[in-house]
Amino acid sequence: MNISKLFLLAFCIIASLLLVSVQGRLHNHTKHKHGHHPISQISVPPSPSPSPEPSIPSSTVFDVRSFGAVGDGLTDETLAFKTAWDTVCQFESESESPATLLVPEGYSFMIQSIIFTGPCKNYVVFKVDGTIMAPDGPDSWFKSNSKRQWLVFYRINGFSFQGFGLIDGRGEKWWDLPCKPHKGVNGSTLPGPCDSPVALRFFMSSNLTVKGLKIQNSPQFNFRFDNCHGVHIESLSIKAPSKSPNTDGIHIENTDNVGIYNSLIANGDDCVSIGSGCYNVDIKNITCGPSHGISIGSLGNHNSRACVTNITVTDSVIKYSDNGLRIKTWQGGSGSVSGVTFNNVHMDTVRNPIIIDQYYCLTKSCLNQTSAVFVSDITYKNIKGTYDVRSPSIHFGCSDSVPCTNLTLSDVELLPAQGEILADPFCWNAYGASQTLTIPPVFCLLEGIPRSVLENDIDRC
Ligand SMILES: *[C@@H]1O[C@H](CO)[C@@H](O)[C@H](O)[C@H]1NC(C)=O
Ligand SMILES: *[C@@H]1O[C@H](CO)[C@@H](O)[C@H](O)[C@H]1NC(C)=O
Ligand SMILES: *[C@@H]1O[C@H](CO)[C@@H](O)[C@H](O)[C@H]1NC(C)=O
Ligand SMILES: *[C@@H]1O[C@H](CO)[C@@H](O)[C@H](O)[C@H]1NC(C)=O
Ligand SMILES: *[C@@H]1O[C@H](CO)[C@@H](O)[C@H](O)[C@H]1NC(C)=O
Ligand SMILES: *[C@@H]1O[C@H](CO)[C@@H](O)[C@H](O)[C@H]1NC(C)=O
Ligand SMILES: *[C@@H]1O[C@H](CO)[C@@H](O)[C@H](O)[C@H]1NC(C)=O
Repeated sequence: MNISKLFLLAFCIIASLLLVSVQGRLHNHTKHKHGHHPISQISVPPSPSPSPEPSIPSSTVFDVRSFGAVGDGLTDETLAFKTAWDTVCQFESESESPATLLVPEGYSFMIQSIIFTGPCKNYVVFKVDGTIMAPDGPDSWFKSNSKRQWLVFYRINGFSFQGFGLIDGRGEKWWDLPCKPHKGVNGSTLPGPCDSPVALRFFMSSNLTVKGLKIQNSPQFNFRFDNCHGVHIESLSIKAPSKSPNTDGIHIENTDNVGIYNSLIANGDDCVSIGSGCYNVDIKNITCGPSHGISIGSLGNHNSRACVTNITVTDSVIKYSDNGLRIKTWQGGSGSVSGVTFNNVHMDTVRNPIIIDQYYCLTKSCLNQTSAVFVSDITYKNIKGTYDVRSPSIHFGCSDSVPCTNLTLSDVELLPAQGEILADPFCWNAYGASQTLTIPPVFCLLEGIPRSVLENDIDRC
């Protein structure tokens, strides 16, 4: 190394040391100066300054640590997150660039149930590069907090929840509550309210992006979107054990214009569940399993009216799952499910790869009723792979009074994962056609449009 390189190196070291100490001082200084309202100076876009460096984009980044968060995984950081959120949400950016709340890499933040409320002044980015974790089970939950939700985003328009970090719901003690199925003494299920929190709930919000994050061990649903418009979900990894109760991956209801892309979901319940009031939902390149598959429903519970339309699932994989592509409705409901396309879905050892169940019932003692959610215009195209022979590969169990219509199958090839094909495809009151030969062949679909559908006033939503 020659002399000039040495000088350069020394200069760099000194310069960076200076920078660190300046930032450190600013940080500590502002904390004292602003007390409970700590917008630190490095967080505010610098006004024209003599500095030769242009203003850095990170000037609108608010690190939770500058609001008092410690990040040791033990301290309760709820208040720091709340203050940080309020600051970011109310921040008026001069450049219109989004304000970012940063959860830094290398730190772990334990927070109690919290509602991040909008509307905010600008687009807000919540960037999780470190870890956010829930309290460790029901005993650590604040008694006054709802046990039905952990992190809630409410009334926010224009929001991105992203990063390469981890959201850890620490659900184990919730799954093991004696009121959960077979978790009581000697495998019993104790009665009583058995609420467990949804890890991430987005409520009455719009223009949302959720991207990149890992979510693990939610006490209940991982994601729940209700009454939201415009949701883009991408590159998530969602994990919970296959035996964890009710840990649906992504649940949406009364939510429209949703895209779910390039994500991996392994959990103990539905991979994606689509409830009433959802339309324009596009799901592409997701891998589910182990899970209970992709589900539309359950719909029509307690004689309710349900409307679901324009749903597509393409280029996806479902493996080691209790169901594949499922539509489930209760007896006695009304409304309709229509315009659903499943295209290019690979199955690996799945029970019920293709199933419509209009007799959905959790107790096995539901009475048959005369009304039902009308199911029509459902396309299954290029659905291939293997199924678990304990159930038929194709099951269309439609309502007695309201048949399913226009079910179309093409390029369906489902082979037993092991052993022989045991059960033929099952149809009950199901109208439609196979447009190509399928494996197994489906001879049980009825042709045409049933008279009851033509004659009766069917509620098509
Ligand atoms: C800032 O505060 C932290 C913790 O209180 C302390 O460890 C650090 O030395 C302080 N830095 C400066 C530059 O005073
Ligand atoms: C969503 O937010 C982005 C970023 O601010 C903005 O460009 C876009 O117009 C918004 N979309 C809608 C539908 O409001
Ligand atoms: C659990 O099962 C064991 C062995 O069968 C029995 O002795 C015990 O009384 C049972 N406990 C309860 C609470 O039922
Ligand atoms: C599909 O998603 C996986 C992540 O699960 C990703 O690695 C891959 O690049 C995606 N494929 C396409 C074509 O986007
Ligand atoms: C169906 O939903 C897609 C988005 O998934 C949307 O682009 C399309 O316009 C919708 N079709 C109708 C008829 O609304
Ligand atoms: C309801 O109807 C279906 C189809 O007709 C039948 O298989 C089932 O046994 C009935 N269930 C009850 C509880 O009557
Ligand atoms: C059957 O469903 C397909 C796909 O949703 C739709 O394009 C077609 O128009 C429907 N056919 C009839 C006769 O309604």
